[in-house]
Amino acid sequence: HPKGLLKTIQEDGEPLKQLSSQHIISSDQFDQDVLLQLFRLAAKFEANPRRFRTPLQGKILISAFYEPSTRTRLSFESAWHRLGGDIMSITDRSTTGIAKGESLSDVGEMFNNYGDCVVLRDNYESSVHEMMRSLRIPIINAGNGLDEHPTQALADLYTILKWKPELVATGDDKADPIRIGVVGVPNQMRTVRSLLKMFAIFPETMEEVVVICEDDPGAIFDTGQLEQLTQAGLNVRVTSDLDEELPKLDVVYINAIAWKGDGFESYGARYVLDSKSPLKKDAIVLHPLARGEELGVDLDGTPHNWYFSQARGAVFLRMALLTCMCERIERVMDVWM
Ligand code: CP
Repeated sequence: HPKGLLKTIQEDGEPLKQLSSQHIISSDQFDQDVLLQLFRLAAKFEANPRRFRTPLQGKILISAFYEPSTRTRLSFESAWHRLGGDIMSITDRSTTGIAKGESLSDVGEMFNNYGDCVVLRDNYESSVHEMMRSLRIPIINAGNGLDEHPTQALADLYTILKWKPELVATGDDKADPIRIGVVGVPNQMRTVRSLLKMFAIFPETMEEVVVICEDDPGAIFDTGQLEQLTQAGLNVRVTSDLDEELPKLDVVYINAIAWKGDGFESYGARYVLDSKSPLKKDAIVLHPLARGEELGVDLDGTPHNWYFSQARGAVFLRMALLTCMCERIERVMDVWM
């Protein structure tokens, strides 16, 4: 329940002002102060879903998804609706001037006239950067090829801290660091890339991050990627044996989708989590979804299932982020207090 997080994180809205009118492109952009206050605001929204004004009334979101999405598009749109704003949604690039060769930079120039914020998903890494060149309104990267998906990582970390708020407590209340397993390829899965960067902002809460993957350990990181995580204080180890690790892990993050060339491939099916897996009694399982064969439905009814909570919490996390980015934080002070 979000109330644990509200007790643990002291209120100090000041850091959230840094998010005003900011583009959100990468997990790299955040620091602990901003994240803790963002999670606090998200927890406030989640704990009081009906107790806020309509801070985004009069604002228009341009929701441009040029690649399939269930959760990200609909949770952003749900968040924006819940905040009282209006939405224009594009779900197919071929219905826009892009089909006639219009550049994303020119499309971005037009978006400046039509809306107050853009959420973009595209299968090309470069698209968000091209559009950003001409944008004077903020844009959120909702997944750019195999590069990043920062708001998914925000939702993932928010879930972990709701599960164990003592990880960010101070003094005697602080929990021991946890061990996290991440099933996936850091340089081919945008959720994994963004999540590891997010973990690197809270290295003191993690005893170890175990990347579980069958590929050659030397091939799963981009140049400098592992060094960056290690320099931030994260203790990263790579292994291929999921079942050997499971009894030692507090959090297991598994993903289905990796990128190969221009398309997806189901990656996680080589590893399976189900009710027979040797999970620790209190371990939680996270998955950004959509589910593939790697996540048994027989886990859904068990206490290990935190992936549905993860998807639900993303709405409140995105509400908090949008409120800050669109400079309407003062309108939710009654929720905040
Ligand atoms: N988690 C996630 O990105 O899901 P969608 O592809 O459905 O948006």
